[in-house]
Amino acid sequence: MATFIVLLGPPGVGKGTQAKILSEKTKLAHVSSGDLFRENLKKQTELGKLAKSFMDKGELVPDDVTISMIRDRITRPDCEAGAILDGFPRTPAQADALEKMLTEFKSEVSKVPYITAAEEILVERTSGRWTCPQGHTYHAKFNPPKQAGVCDVDASELYQRDDDQVETVTKRIRVYLEQTMPLVEHYRKAGKLVEVHGDQPVEQVTKDLLAALDM
Ligand code: AP5
Ligand code: MG
Repeated sequence: MATFIVLLGPPGVGKGTQAKILSEKTKLAHVSSGDLFRENLKKQTELGKLAKSFMDKGELVPDDVTISMIRDRITRPDCEAGAILDGFPRTPAQADALEKMLTEFKSEVSKVPYITAAEEILVERTSGRWTCPQGHTYHAKFNPPKQAGVCDVDASELYQRDDDQVETVTKRIRVYLEQTMPLVEHYRKAGKLVEVHGDQPVEQVTKDLLAALDM
């Protein structure tokens, strides 16, 4: 059966950072809903423009478009063995849709690592973040690239996300608490939740994740 791992956690806790590392180690595809929206925006697709209008306000993109984007993505061949889902699902309706999709593929969510950290850490991490168009992330203080403004992995030019301003981050955290937190209880009840402390060095968080996932 394919392995689908859902990374849960608030904005800036390190989901993208860890998903990239886990994807390299496990060879499972990294599927980030936020990265997919940003790719669409770069290509100026209708989906990208629609998503931006919500992302800039720190709100969630509507479930129907988000679900169909993820369905398209996880039916690609590189997800045959499964995927690390980063940022999806984020609402109970998305979690239900994911469950139905995976049942169709004769699969299910394997485990749900829930990465946690205090709000002031989330704000510090997002405000110093530099992102590469391919989704690699850096931090001015905690994880600087070798050369300022340039991605170590693919030499792309790094940028700061529009939604990383403090007011937008604060809104994103509020939206997370209201709309995504119910999924913590949902997956805990299903016996799939494993808690991991995000307030540790990147390498330690990776070790804890691999241990929690038995990988
Ligand atoms: P999305 O892009 O998913 O943003 P997010 O969930 O808010 O999470 P972030 O990407 O901000 O943080 P992260 O946890 O990936 O942290 P990272 O590893 O980068 O979503 C953006 C928007 O898209 C949403 O607001 C919404 O509008 C829309 N959207 C996306 N998915 C959706 C969905 N399913 N439904 C509806 N709408 C959706 O790390 C952060 C920083 O900290 C980096 O600088 C990094 O270098 C640093 N760092 C990481 N780990 C550590 C560590 N251990 N120690 C020190 N620094 C660290
Ligand atoms: Mg991310």
